Amino acid sequence: MTVTPDSKAANQMWGGRFSAGPDAIMQAINASIGFDQRLYAQDIAGSRAHAAMLAAQGIISNKDAEAIGEGLLAILSEIEAGQFPFTPELEDIHLNIEARLTERIGEAGKRLHTGRSRNDQVAVDFRLWVRDQCDQAIAGLTGLMQAFLKQAEVGADWVMPGFTHLQTAQPVTWGHHMLAYVEMLARDRSRFEDARRRMNECPLGAAALAGTSFPIDRHMTAQALGFDRPTANSLDSVSDRDFALEFLSASSICAMHLSRFAEELVIWSSAQFRFVRLSDKWTTGSSIMPQKKNPDAAELLRAKLGRILGATVALFTVMKGLALTYSKDMQEDKEQVFDAADSLMLGLAAMTGMVSDMTANREILRAAAASGFSTATDLADWLVKALNLPFREAHHVTGTLVAMAESKGCDLPDLTLADMQSVHSGITDQVFGVLGVENSVRSRTSYGGTAPDRVREQVARWQAALG
Ligand code: ARG
Repeated sequence: MTVTPDSKAANQMWGGRFSAGPDAIMQAINASIGFDQRLYAQDIAGSRAHAAMLAAQGIISNKDAEAIGEGLLAILSEIEAGQFPFTPELEDIHLNIEARLTERIGEAGKRLHTGRSRNDQVAVDFRLWVRDQCDQAIAGLTGLMQAFLKQAEVGADWVMPGFTHLQTAQPVTWGHHMLAYVEMLARDRSRFEDARRRMNECPLGAAALAGTSFPIDRHMTAQALGFDRPTANSLDSVSDRDFALEFLSASSICAMHLSRFAEELVIWSSAQFRFVRLSDKWTTGSSIMPQKKNPDAAELLRAKLGRILGATVALFTVMKGLALTYSKDMQEDKEQVFDAADSLMLGLAAMTGMVSDMTANREILRAAAASGFSTATDLADWLVKALNLPFREAHHVTGTLVAMAESKGCDLPDLTLADMQSVHSGITDQVFGVLGVENSVRSRTSYGGTAPDRVREQVARWQAALG
């Protein structure tokens, strides 16, 4: 008995051995075109490089390669004009484009898939997309670092409280606090640069998993697509998603940094702190409380890490149990990365806007720095230097003086010399020189310390580095 395939229903791209098309639910769970159409530009670039290579190697004719190249460019315009007929029957971006190509140019279109598979095709498309996102993250981070640097430059010597446990610890400078974020973001940037370097190998030509018997030139396609070299193992090429995981991991750490500054902004812009003012551009009102100005963008930025880290965990979980090489589970990689990348880029842009726009209240910062016995460490250090007390003893003497000031309801500089001497007779009026917050920050000149001179050196270093 001969089975007559229902060619209408079976998949036109791979349905040769099928006599019926998929169940509607099968199609719904299988199709990725709803989201992987975002890879259209990378898919077309990969196919153009592949076709040119096939012709250069004499695997297809130059005439066919030209028709393919032009046809793909026409499809690119069609997609960009919103006129491409995406269809879930053709599953994914690869089959949608290839089928459309054949529709447009005929026979030659059917030669494009020679010596490759969707497995290496999706691997190269996705790598190109993630590589581009690394570049965008690097650019976004550079802009944000510049915004923090500007704040540091303006407020290199503004005094503010430095916190540990969110309790006043020691006076620091605004510039120093801003530069802390420049350092964090610089590490983020180097993580994206590093990941980009490592992912910059081309998997195209690994074919389904084992390579191909056609005399392809993988160096040529790698070069055409801006990769440093082709990947060296075909099995690894189609089963590897480390590049996506590295991007997500770097994004998670970066989003954690954004979230930490967002948290500081929420605290600092509150009526209780008033360290900074966010302008109307970066706040929203309440529908019931007319006085409100809420730091919504900062709050949302704090929350974005949840999504990005969620995507990271999701992809690790997809990958962890997969035997080599490709499995369809891996189709679940893209939505996670798309969402994380969108969240990160938006987050970087929003943070850059807020940092550029915020105004610190110098007087309030200084007043806050002067309260909470913030120069107690300076006093203890003075006792060590001037009276040669062992540090542990100086710590104890200072603690007694703090308790005394607390019970008198005043701050350390408000104690009299007699008060001081009642705790340690050797104390002289020289001590008052170290109790002021300006002197305190000025004295912290150790490398990496908060002294304005040190901050200005670091500002200059970063200005030179960031241009
Ligand atoms: N849409 C697929 C994905 O995103 C493309 C690769 C399909 N390969 C296959 N052998 N079915 O992973």
